[in-house]
Amino acid sequence: MSTQRFGTFVVTLATVATTGFMATVPAYAKAPQHSVLAGSAVAVADKYSADAAEQIFKKGGNAVDASVAIALTLAVTYPEAGNIGGGGFMTIYMNGKPYFIDYRERAPLAATKAMYLDKNGEVIPGMSAFGYRAVGVPGTVAGLWEAQKRFGKLKWQEVVAPAIHYARDGFVVEQQLVERAADASKDFGGKTNFAQYFGSLKAGQNFKQPELAAVLGRISQQGAKGFYSGKTADLIDSAMKKGGGLITKNDLAQYKAVWRQPLEADWNSFQVITAPPPSSGGIALLQLLKMKEARKADFAGVEHNSPQYMHLVSELEKRVFADRAQYLGDPDFYKVPVAQLTNETYIAKRASEVNPTAPSETKSVQAGLGTAMPEKAETTHFSVVDKWGNAVSNTYTINGYFGSGVIADGTGIVLNDEMDDFSAKPGVPNMLGVVGSDANAIEPKKRPLSSMTPTIMTKDGKAVLVIGTPGGSRIFTSIFQVLSNMYDFKMPLKEAVGAFRFHHQLLPVNTIFYEPYYPIVGELAKGIEARGYTLKDQGFSGDIQVIKIDGQKVDAVSDPRGRGVSRVIH
Ligand code: GLY
Repeated sequence: MSTQRFGTFVVTLATVATTGFMATVPAYAKAPQHSVLAGSAVAVADKYSADAAEQIFKKGGNAVDASVAIALTLAVTYPEAGNIGGGGFMTIYMNGKPYFIDYRERAPLAATKAMYLDKNGEVIPGMSAFGYRAVGVPGTVAGLWEAQKRFGKLKWQEVVAPAIHYARDGFVVEQQLVERAADASKDFGGKTNFAQYFGSLKAGQNFKQPELAAVLGRISQQGAKGFYSGKTADLIDSAMKKGGGLITKNDLAQYKAVWRQPLEADWNSFQVITAPPPSSGGIALLQLLKMKEARKADFAGVEHNSPQYMHLVSELEKRVFADRAQYLGDPDFYKVPVAQLTNETYIAKRASEVNPTAPSETKSVQAGLGTAMPEKAETTHFSVVDKWGNAVSNTYTINGYFGSGVIADGTGIVLNDEMDDFSAKPGVPNMLGVVGSDANAIEPKKRPLSSMTPTIMTKDGKAVLVIGTPGGSRIFTSIFQVLSNMYDFKMPLKEAVGAFRFHHQLLPVNTIFYEPYYPIVGELAKGIEARGYTLKDQGFSGDIQVIKIDGQKVDAVSDPRGRGVSRVIH
């Protein structure tokens, strides 16, 4: 492991395979602790997962126990994005130390660089996004298992129990879930078995998932093996064979979650702890925060979310997306220049290229040590703190809502379409319009580049903010805006989350995206267009889940854009 210091940035470049780490579990992880906060808190995507967390805290569980219960519950009650058939990242701050577990999906062993190209070398539309071929080897169960084994205080069976209850006995369906299922089903076009599992969803009715309850039962009894081997693995293998997918029992048996060093940097008197590659999110977030700091004089006195503000932020985002497309991929396969991309001198140079008055010409914004793809924007995030001051920021995904639209027959597991986050052909945009380079080309066992940015901020060694959101390539631009709202514009937490957000990502040329939650029209739209930008509805609003800690006081906010619930549990 090597730790490199560049200015105030500390970037530790290393990965630690999970194999054998049990021997190194620090004793403090399970030692009794004193409460330091007024309560534990959660900001989660739905009320059932909040109830599950509350139950876990009442049993004496910590932030990691609650997180595992939340994640498994969301796999049942928030099936559009919560999952055991996908993958994600968990940033942990435990007893004053940062950790990060990467449980991102991997490409199957039989995957090839050209698997989504036709005989003329052209990308076959939709093939990486829907159906059996779109599925990456799921990592969620491995990640949750490793995290709970390392840091949990309760028995594994106790943290799985709430999810089993909701799958076996059912939960009452909300209208938003029905709408999302109806929208997703149009994309799947009857080509998958989606309707067989989710075609009968009705708002206000109880929905049971007996097959999923049985899978969770096996996971409860056998841990990760209940997913990656035995009956569950057999069922996934047969479903894949039947549908023409690539994942086999061997892929499942070989899957491993990886402990990595999170990225850490000083910013605004805080320590920011965030996601390393294979996420692009941490690097991008740090670049945005630091570039904005470097151009402080240009931002001074500029009104929040005014045309000039949106122009300046877009200029920063342009540069971040140029780097992202060129240099980022799975660090186990490609040497990502993390230290260079987050180096103070480099960031200052990039910031100096910002044109304060007009959009920089797109093709002049090359990757800075020397492109952009669409990405699905869904995903889900939760933030958790326990009364001992430990924190978890977790973002996980099946990519689009309901992933590939494939449910492994006999399991109720909704399978991801994370293969779409690879560049199917370098230079060709993916579903979110972001373009990729060879760094993110498909290879067996490789993890696709992600934007997920589960972030924790600390001050004087104590967690003070836990934040994240879904949104594909909008994730880090959304977190950046909420942080700017809070710390530069001094907005109260709820306002900082509620304020409208916008997004630019180099391509399409000079396009600023707005959210359906807050369409940009009228004078504001005219002001932005007059600066040379085109406005476009991005068709998706984020879902920030954030917890702020101030001394002993804990405040949690769920984005008004979703059906999330935030709760402080005393
Ligand atoms: N699939 C969304 C992401 O990984 O960022």
